Amino acid sequence: MKRETILGGQNHEHGPIELSVIIPTFNEAKNVALLLEKLSAALGNTCWEAVFVDDNSPDGTADAVRRIALGDRRVRIIQRIGRRGLSSAVVEGMLATAAPVLAVIDGDLQHDETILPAMLDDVASGRADIAIGSRYMEGGSVGDWSQKREAGSRAATALSKFALKVELSDPMSGFFAISRAKMMDAVPNLSGIGFKILLDLVASLKTPPRISEHPYTFRSRAEGESKASALVAAEYLLLLLDKRVGHIIPARFLSFLAVGGLGVGVHLAVLWTMLQLGAGFVNAQSTAVVLAMTFNFFLNNIFTYQDRQLHGWKMIGGLLSFYAVCGLGAVANVGIGTWMHAHDSQWWIAGFAGIAIGAVWNFAASSFLTWRK
Ligand code: GDD
Ligand code: MN
Repeated sequence: MKRETILGGQNHEHGPIELSVIIPTFNEAKNVALLLEKLSAALGNTCWEAVFVDDNSPDGTADAVRRIALGDRRVRIIQRIGRRGLSSAVVEGMLATAAPVLAVIDGDLQHDETILPAMLDDVASGRADIAIGSRYMEGGSVGDWSQKREAGSRAATALSKFALKVELSDPMSGFFAISRAKMMDAVPNLSGIGFKILLDLVASLKTPPRISEHPYTFRSRAEGESKASALVAAEYLLLLLDKRVGHIIPARFLSFLAVGGLGVGVHLAVLWTMLQLGAGFVNAQSTAVVLAMTFNFFLNNIFTYQDRQLHGWKMIGGLLSFYAVCGLGAVANVGIGTWMHAHDSQWWIAGFAGIAIGAVWNFAASSFLTWRK
């Protein structure tokens, strides 16, 4: 009996798997059971599985999934320790299954699972490579969002054109289904940065995918809280840049440069303030250098080196090594600039060359010394 179903029956417990639903979670323990009930109801006789990818949530999401998985073979869990990131979680979930169609849905019940069968049908039948749940098309909506959040989402959507060659009504969507083949095409080029895995996938494909869109209304969150933050917004900009110029300049270096640019702002602000307060130039400039380096260290620790972040006492050692690295970088900067200037370079070319060499040195040396793998 069992053998028969394995060889080709369509029994939804034992037939060949049609759909894997990937669910990234961070602190969604209270939503797990209800989401699975809703998926089960929506998917009916489809042969599906759910793969939760949880970043070791302190609220015990992974255990909540395991309790259900014990009695339901359709449910699986990947628990990642010491790592964070929605996009990278989704990619890992997708790579951990054999299903020919891969769907992604949030674990907080904000996406409307009842349109999954239509999305699956589009992709399984080959009518589309990617079927997207869209809030920004006829029939869809963002539900009861604040004006501020809606404006933010619209702005992010407009910015996405910078990285995308295809027209999507809702490129910010985290709710979609994709064929295994297209997913595998995109994998080598994925950035894996931040929240926007759909955008990352579409922009990673060499040939534009065939897309279908399905309207739905974004629900409000009943349990738990959103993980969207300023950091997530910054990661989004980095993702766009990485998609555009990442093949020339690595994303981590872009991030390091952006932080350095902000550091220049901090430097000038401190310098100006101290001069206003009557400090001498040498004192003001030295204080500005130290504060700007300190600022850069903390920002790089949070953002550029999120995956190798230093905590507790290690931050002290890290900060000291960063001072040392940047100190040498400044020496190189001045040295190269002076040498070029002495060899008849224009003042601004000499100045810029010094900055470029200093920046590359700071980046290379700090990734080796301060944020060692
Ligand atoms: N594994 C993992 N790791 N999951 C995460 C992480 C993380 O670092 N951060 C968030 N998640 C999970 C959440 O638990 C939730 O299931 C889902 O990813 C979406 O996160 P929310 O915090 O609910 O984000 P949101 O509601 O602001 O964003 C959603 O809406 C956007 C559209 O505006 C997401 O679906 C986005 O993908 C979507 O684009
Ligand atoms: Mn949400």
